[in-house]
Amino acid sequence: LLVDASEAASRPIPETLFGIFFEEINHAGAGGLWAELVSNRGFEAGGPNTPSNIDPWSVIGDESSVILTTDRSSCFERNKVALRIDVLCDSQGSNICPSGGVGLYNPGFWGMNIEQGKTYKVILYVRSSESINVSVSLTSSDGLKTLATANIIAAAADVSNWTKAEVLLKAVGTDHSSRLQLTTSQKGVIWFDQVSAMPLDTYKGHGFRNDLFKMLADIKPRFIRFPGGCFVEGEWLRDAFRWKESIGPWEERPGHFGDVWMYWTDDGLGYLEFLQLAEDLGALPVWVINNGISHQDQVDTSNVLPFIQEALDSIEFARGDSNSKWGSVRAAMGHPEPFDLRYMAIGNEDCGKKNYRGNYLRFYDAIKRAYPDIKIISNCDGSSQPLDHPADIYDYHIYTSASDLFSKSSRFNLAPRKGPKAFVSEYAVTGKDAETGSFLAALAEAGFLIGLEKNSDIIEMASYAPLFVNSNDRRWNPDAIVFNSWQLYGTPSYWVHHLFKESSGATLLNATLQSDSSSSLIASAIAWQTDDMKSYLKIKIVNFGSSTVNLRIDVDGLKLNSLGSSQTVYTAADLMDENSFEEPKKVVRTQTLFEDVTKDMDVVLSPYSINSFDFL
Ligand code: AHR
Repeated sequence: LLVDASEAASRPIPETLFGIFFEEINHAGAGGLWAELVSNRGFEAGGPNTPSNIDPWSVIGDESSVILTTDRSSCFERNKVALRIDVLCDSQGSNICPSGGVGLYNPGFWGMNIEQGKTYKVILYVRSSESINVSVSLTSSDGLKTLATANIIAAAADVSNWTKAEVLLKAVGTDHSSRLQLTTSQKGVIWFDQVSAMPLDTYKGHGFRNDLFKMLADIKPRFIRFPGGCFVEGEWLRDAFRWKESIGPWEERPGHFGDVWMYWTDDGLGYLEFLQLAEDLGALPVWVINNGISHQDQVDTSNVLPFIQEALDSIEFARGDSNSKWGSVRAAMGHPEPFDLRYMAIGNEDCGKKNYRGNYLRFYDAIKRAYPDIKIISNCDGSSQPLDHPADIYDYHIYTSASDLFSKSSRFNLAPRKGPKAFVSEYAVTGKDAETGSFLAALAEAGFLIGLEKNSDIIEMASYAPLFVNSNDRRWNPDAIVFNSWQLYGTPSYWVHHLFKESSGATLLNATLQSDSSSSLIASAIAWQTDDMKSYLKIKIVNFGSSTVNLRIDVDGLKLNSLGSSQTVYTAADLMDENSFEEPKKVVRTQTLFEDVTKDMDVVLSPYSINSFDFL
């Protein structure tokens, strides 16, 4: 391998090259990154008609002691459904309540993770027919063990008056599958609505689950594409993500049913929170907007203007000053400073659909007129032939087998060098080569990413998909990060992404392989400097073949230090090995420090291995 570090043979890699794609899929947000513990907190998931299904809320008590139903008496105009509980038993008389009381519980998203010593904030809205004592508790999944409890009084001053109750619960024990209980032993009628339980320690208090946030921060994403994917489109437009329904006080958000991935979201993780997430990660937001097209229905171009207005309003919400109409809404939500929104994608995977081109052009013109600096991303692939419409960037998605993805490392070698740049916003090995996250998948992806790095003169961005999966709701396999209420691990694909975390903004050096096994090898070399002026060189080589390769690495134009330089190898005993909660690092990296670094170095590449040579 010849590495030429001369200035003439080098070029900068875009600052934005590697980032993440967050989609509300697999309970990535609701029951995932968004730390809200209560599922269906507003009782809206069963639909607007009452009585409705209150799943996953359940009754505590039997029909002789308590009746749960829903009505439309909420004080929140955009989500009228409230829970009504008729308590038939009492603390005295002929119908005594069972010990512990009656009421209802919420198991959260497959159990709440409650940890000893940590504090949880519960907020709920309540009204009642009498003055009734209500216990708010975090308990074990069977309700037998109480981890934290507090009392509130549902005062009956005026039965039409809702009051907000807020309690802090400090846990005296740990249980990863806890539940929230609201119970009483007093006869009467109580209504509950908008019941939230959040841990106090979320990232910067912004509502993001700390451990999952850290996994994202660790790969130093330079952008975050959100909130989908198909989630943006909806199976039907009536169920597509609508940003205006996802902002403002959380209690007033209606929530919606995502009909592609088939679950309800309370939209606590709304448009502002996505922008906040981007800011907290130091990543640029890439906002994917619905362009009037879902999987099953489409708005005709002649009627698309209201959708364009939604897009323009969303930009004003993100970037407008706090005197502007939508900027003032953002400011009222606690973020007076504008967000750094520079990228917008018009739709997701809609190219080729009847109205896409027409709708896209209307969006493009309107956004460019108002915000000429915003880069517009088209859904149409411009890698084989030039686009027939204006765009700054074209989107490219690929889900395929391992050998095909490895061979696609040269996919962009012949792509047009002029015109819009590429955004590989979804890539992954899928199917039997990947299962739920194999080493084989990651091996091929590493080769593919090296190919992207080498073509980064025309590739502006790339991200793996999907990012997250709650192991209780695997809608899509594989994924980069697997979690449940309290555990998490990165699949080998995550760790490959991690390996590329220094690439964005680095310098790409010329790296040429001269080997008989070149067809199963791919290599790149990057150099970068840290703020304290330390220089680094990283050479990555993927061996996708079954033979050991002995290689000489020859670096021209750089002086390498022996101290601290190393070779890191990712391999697996079996190509289909996966990480798991039990063995989160089964697919391992081994790092060996070099004893002596010379200009010419002989190295060994194991069969099916990802190798990183790091020099100071
Ligand atoms: O990443 C999962 C899905 O794959 C995305 O929602 C969609 O864009 C693609 O089809």
